[in-house]
Parts: sequence; structure tokens; C-alpha cells
Amino acid sequence: MERAANKTRHLVVEPGQPNAAIIQEAGALLRKGELVAFPTETVYGLGANALNAHAVASIFAAKGRPADNPLIVHTDSPKSLERYIDQFPPVLAQLAARFWPGPLTLVLRCSHAFPPVVTGGLDTVAVRVPAHPVALALIRAAGVPVAAPSANVSGRPSPTIAAHVLDDLSGKIALVLDGGPAGLGVESTVLDISGDRPVILRPGGIIQRDLEAVLGEVKIAPEVDDVALAGDRPRSPGMKYTHYAPRAPLVLFEGYDPGRVAAGVLNEAMRMAADGRKVGIFTYCETASLYDGQGYSVVVAGKRSDPRTVAASLYASLRRFDHLGVEVILAEGITPDGLGMAVENRLRRAAGGHVVTI
Ligand code: TXA
Ligand code: MG
Repeated sequence: MERAANKTRHLVVEPGQPNAAIIQEAGALLRKGELVAFPTETVYGLGANALNAHAVASIFAAKGRPADNPLIVHTDSPKSLERYIDQFPPVLAQLAARFWPGPLTLVLRCSHAFPPVVTGGLDTVAVRVPAHPVALALIRAAGVPVAAPSANVSGRPSPTIAAHVLDDLSGKIALVLDGGPAGLGVESTVLDISGDRPVILRPGGIIQRDLEAVLGEVKIAPEVDDVALAGDRPRSPGMKYTHYAPRAPLVLFEGYDPGRVAAGVLNEAMRMAADGRKVGIFTYCETASLYDGQGYSVVVAGKRSDPRTVAASLYASLRRFDHLGVEVILAEGITPDGLGMAVENRLRRAAGGHVVTI
């Protein structure tokens, strides 16, 4: 790629009130077909002009992303979205009024306004209005809808600070707007409203309970592994790949009793350490002291009792293990309730099927 030899610019902006000249410059880059990374209220996104097939194709090249994994189109308001979709069904209006701007992505029937590279050739398109002032100002300045996946190399943990973006994509993109830490730390909830009943394809920032308060019962799409066993095609193409993974293999321990889960992790850690392996432990404030003084590389990812703190530090915690040089990571799971559901979903993907139930 021609950009590979170029330097990625890194411009710091005030998250609440980004410098107008910098935002105009970033918007002009997007209009020209360049790639710009920016903070959102979930994770950092890697933006391209969604109407420019060539620009969107360069997202896939920069990330090493499989071509069949479609992108989310971001607009600055439901109103600007209207220009690009054929119908605005009542359920869309209702959800937009309640949750936008915010961490909810809606999968709609496609309008063919976007080049097929955006939608992976599906007959649906995913859209969202982000809540971060920098993201909104950038989309407005660009004057076009912005296709943006998370700004990481495909398969790696999503970036929650600009340094993560540069670690993965430096030299491959024009600019990163650095607005400090992204908000929630996990991605938006992907809700498919293209069929008869809404289905959650990816748990995320807007929790199931809050969607149900508006829609009544909302089902969650079966885990991809189950789908694969059933011989079906996953409804959200992104969910079929191992994702969010640190460099060392991760084994996830799950169970109803956190004390027993931690004891299981400790047992396995002792066994592996006795074999001479360098072990990393992913744990929470409540159980961290269990691993003290035994030579493990322990990363404490917030409080189990407050999944918001875990979501906020999840991806930075997973990336920490890369710098600690561990050979294997043993992770305690979290109760999949509220925002814990998104966290547990990401940990399962990071484990790529290595799950021990206790
Ligand atoms: O919070 C977020 O959603 C972040 C920020 C940057 O907005 N974006 C993000 O994008 O997480 P990405 O590309 O990393 O994840 C998008 C997910 C993928 O699992 C993809 O397969 C799914 O959305 N998706 C996109 N279009 C779809 C469609 N038409 N039907 C089903 N799933 C779709
Ligand atoms: Mg992603």
C-alpha cells in the first residue's frame, strides 16, 4: 500500500470541545478518501467515507479484515441517515429516539446507497449515531456517512486509547484523533431489526434489559459455535472469527461461584508454572490477592461487582499481557448480566473456544 511508507499523524483534541481547525482537516481527509481513526463512546473507530468504495476497501487492507465482514455506517443524526435508507420503519424511529446518539447499532434492510464493500454483499446494512462529541463533529465536518470498524488489526483487542491504534495501524492510516480514553470500553450492541423480530447479534453498550423495556422480549442470536454446529450461516459475519485476542493463548474459566472459578484458575496456574510456563492471570479486585507472591503476571480488570469498571479496562488489560511476555493467560469469567454480558462475550471470543466450566 502506498500509505505504508507514510507516517500516521497523531493530533490531540479536547474530547468535549475538539479544536475546530483540526476537525475540519480530519473531515477533509475523510472526504478525500483517507482513513482517520477517532474516539467514540465505545472504542476507537477507523473511519472512511462510506460512499467511496476505494476508501472503504482500504479499511479492509489496513486492518487485514476478511472481506465478508461488513462495516457499521455512522451518521451524525437519524435525520442524516434518512437520505440513505428507503424506509424509516416505526421500530427504527422508536429505538433512535430512545438510544441515539449512543452505543446501539441497528441492522436494517439495505437501500443500496452504499457500495457492496460496506455491507459485505449482504442485503442489510448496519448503522449507528455515536454519542462522542469528537465522532459527531468529525462526521459533520466530513459531510458524508462514515464507515468505521474498531481501529485495531483484525482479531486483536479493540483500541480504547490512541496508543492502541498506533500500536496496530501506525504507517497504515493518515491520522488518529486522540481524544483520550474512549468511553464504555466495549463496542455497541448490534441489534438486527431487518426481520420479523429484533435479535441481538452482538451484546454491547446498550444492555438487553433496556432494549426489552422498549421492544418487549429480545432474543440473543445463538453463539457462533452453536450456529456452526447446526450448520447455519452466522447472522453477524463478524462473530465467526476469533476476536479481541492477546498474543498468548487465553483460557477462560466460567462458573456460577466466583470463589470456585478463582480456585480453578489458581490450580491450573500452579500446574502450568510447575511445567516452567510463564503464566498470566486475568482477574478482578475481589479475587486478585489469591495470586499474590507466586510469580504470575496478574492483571486486575476492575471490580467483578461493577461490570462497567471491567468493560472500561477490558481491552487495555488484554493488551497488557502482550507487554508482560506471558506464554498463556488464564482468565476468570464474569456473570453475563448487564454490561457483564458484553464482557463475557468478548472473553469467550478471545479464548477462541478454550473455555473451562467449573
Ligand atoms: O462500538 C462499535 O460498534 C464500534 C465503533 C467504532 O462504532 N465499531 C465496531 O465495528 O465495533 P466492528 O466492525 O469492529 O464490528 C461491527 C460488527 C461486526 O461483528 C459485523 O459483522 C457486524 O457488526 N455487522 C456489520 N454489518 C452487519 C450486517 N449488515 N449484518 C449483520 N452484522 C453486521
Ligand atoms: Mg471490531
